[in-house]
Amino acid sequence: MTGASTTKLLIVLCAAFSCILSLSYGRVNPNFQVKAVNLGGWLVTEGWIKPSLFDGIPNKDFLDGTELQFKSVTIGKYLCAETGGGTIIVVNRTAASGWETFRLWRINETAFHFRVFNKQFMGLDTAGNGIDIVAVSNTPGGSETFQIVKNPDDSKRVRIKAPNGFFLQEHWSTFIVEDDFKFISENGLNAVRIPVGWWIASDPTPPPPFVGGSLYALDNAFNWARKYKVNVIIDLHAAPGSQNGWEHSASRDGSQEWGKTDQNIQETVAVIEFLTARYANNPSLYAVELINEPLSPGATLEMVTKYYRAGYEAVRKHSLIAYVVMSNRLGPADSRELFPLTSGLNGAVIDIHYYNLFNDMFDDMTVQQNIDFVYTNRSAQLGLVTTSNGPLTFVGEWVAEWQVKGATKEDYQRFTKAQLEVFGRATFGWAYWTLKNVNNHWSLEWMINNGYIKL
Ligand SMILES: *[C@@H]1O[C@H](CO)[C@@H](O)[C@H](O)[C@H]1NC(C)=O
Ligand SMILES: *[C@@H]1O[C@H](CO)[C@@H](O)[C@H](O)[C@H]1NC(C)=O
Ligand SMILES: *[C@@H]1O[C@H](CO)[C@@H](O)[C@H](O)[C@H]1NC(C)=O
Repeated sequence: MTGASTTKLLIVLCAAFSCILSLSYGRVNPNFQVKAVNLGGWLVTEGWIKPSLFDGIPNKDFLDGTELQFKSVTIGKYLCAETGGGTIIVVNRTAASGWETFRLWRINETAFHFRVFNKQFMGLDTAGNGIDIVAVSNTPGGSETFQIVKNPDDSKRVRIKAPNGFFLQEHWSTFIVEDDFKFISENGLNAVRIPVGWWIASDPTPPPPFVGGSLYALDNAFNWARKYKVNVIIDLHAAPGSQNGWEHSASRDGSQEWGKTDQNIQETVAVIEFLTARYANNPSLYAVELINEPLSPGATLEMVTKYYRAGYEAVRKHSLIAYVVMSNRLGPADSRELFPLTSGLNGAVIDIHYYNLFNDMFDDMTVQQNIDFVYTNRSAQLGLVTTSNGPLTFVGEWVAEWQVKGATKEDYQRFTKAQLEVFGRATFGWAYWTLKNVNNHWSLEWMINNGYIKL
């Protein structure tokens, strides 16, 4: 089906049913632009947790009295007993010393108590919600018993399992809730990009080490999205075998195996088809992103082209109107390399991610240089892929964070404004990474609530 005929069909249907379709869904409104936030770290939590949540720097064996410091693989910050103990445990320190050091009391080879700087024991907040981790008890008991689960492939990587059976960090049912969709709809945003892992298609019994339940959480998200008129972009963040070898794509040991066989590609297409079929009738389904950040050269252009073609067909089997988002490859790749593919595909969108991070060239940039980089270089990069007859463009991830130390609130406001201005030229729209994060600038919720971003 071509673009013109899709649009015509919609117009005819609209007329016939007195236009029951809301313009806010955008598919009949060419001026609609996605202003979205990523719900990062929610349904792909397992992807972060496995291979491990915390990157320890421990001795080989965990003996009594061993001093450990834990660095989160996902956010690169150290676990810390705030004020040395007596209150909450946080994961937001860039360097580790006393408050970031935990002394082990060994119960057996896997069960431990963790003693903090001020001598309290880390435990579940049983006086509070029973979920938060605190350091308040002076005597260790069941709520202060944690398991350290080592990664068999890398002894420096461990997971910490809390007494309630959950791995340390957030949970699907409490991390994102209905009120978050209300917040999104009331704060100038009109969409969410929801990263999911391939195992969602075999919920509730995904293969180990993944845990069931993410599909139920996604169902909730769609119900809330519908209620608050928020558009949903489903984003396959973790494909079977891992498309980039990073934790957020659920690589178990850093290897990148996705796309190497037809069977693997078919398995990935099946996940896309499963998700599209499930939500095609929900008016909030706005777009399906076939895969996030395939990494060149491991993911070849041939692999992604083959997959994108098949994935596009799978979406179209169930939805004629959902946009189909295709992530540009990271690593050595031409930013227009998908143009030949997308030219025949109606509703195709190219996703590009722009961070002033993850590259040495940003290390010594000043506030002004960062801002100039956005206005000059990002603007040019985006301009190159945003053409009148090419695919729509989507800055599917960006954040108001940089390598600048000690920047003021005003600096951040200017940086944010620059990015909103430039990324606002993307024809499909943009999505901030992410809604919630212990690091303030990575949390759009915090940025909005504290006046750093105005939408
Ligand atoms: C870490 O988080 C706690 C709790 O949100 C906060 O009070 C503290 O200021 C944060 N510290 C740093 C260095 O970000
Ligand atoms: C270690 O101790 C914990 C807590 O007392 C217990 O649940 C677990 O079964 C023990 N594991 C072994 C291998 O003894
Ligand atoms: C940014 O663009 C300017 C102007 O085209 C160019 O001189 C500069 O080298 C670019 N900077 C980087 C870091 O690519």
